[in-house]
Amino acid sequence: MTIKLEDELGDVLEKARDGKDWSQVDLARTAQVSPDVIAKIENYETIPDDNTIINLARVLDLHPPSLIDLARGNWVPLPPTPDPEKFEVVCLNLLVGSYPVKCYLLICRETRSSAVIDTGGNPDAVIKKAAELGLKPEKILLTHAHFDHAGGLQKLDKAFACPVWIDKKEPKPSGSHSYKYIADGEILKLGKINIEILLTPGHTPGGVSYKVEGTVFSGDSIFAGSMGRANSSWSTLFESITQKLLTLPDETRLFPGHGPATTVKEEKMHNPFFFGKVTSR
Ligand SMILES: [Fe+2]
Repeated sequence: MTIKLEDELGDVLEKARDGKDWSQVDLARTAQVSPDVIAKIENYETIPDDNTIINLARVLDLHPPSLIDLARGNWVPLPPTPDPEKFEVVCLNLLVGSYPVKCYLLICRETRSSAVIDTGGNPDAVIKKAAELGLKPEKILLTHAHFDHAGGLQKLDKAFACPVWIDKKEPKPSGSHSYKYIADGEILKLGKINIEILLTPGHTPGGVSYKVEGTVFSGDSIFAGSMGRANSSWSTLFESITQKLLTLPDETRLFPGHGPATTVKEEKMHNPFFFGKVTSR
């Protein structure tokens, strides 16, 4: 199966412009490129020559070789390493309308305790997969409250009757009988495994990533080769990624809400937003 990144050149340009608070015309003027060309790139109608991409990358503080690779489809992250001894990750590739989204089942191998990480907006698929695997999830962990991540709680509540964890700064989605608010650095137990809370706001005010050993479920903060849309704050999202996620060990696996799994090392080496922007602690 061909691996498809979540974002294309047009998406990356638009998000990088957003970071500078530039219109398409601002970018065109600064890079001395026709506004029509910018509009066509962002509408996925054209991919310009390498010199134009380099020029656009420089004015937008993006890493030029990484942006060329992304534009030409020359890079996808290496497949994730196998799950470790203590837990298993099951990824559900779902659709909300025609829009692909991922959610995950996290399973403690020893106790078979399990958690749903985001709903994929598709509770029936989650319930079906849990039944196939003989699981009764005891936690629903939300990375944020957008419908494609938190929709369908009512059905999940009926099926599993388990609480929903979410950051208190996030709008509360409807449908559950029990919400629990989380704090940065807090540890949740799932069977014999520990889930660490990393607050990673910026895509939304209360964005959360869930870290289990060397695996992070990162919602819509970072994508392979790109970043989430900064609906709440671009600089906050950038800091969440560069200070909380990409400072983790290189081999850390990142499971995002859209697009393929990746690692900290892959993103530090190939993501046009973050190449050279991370200072290790
Ligand atoms: Fe989202």
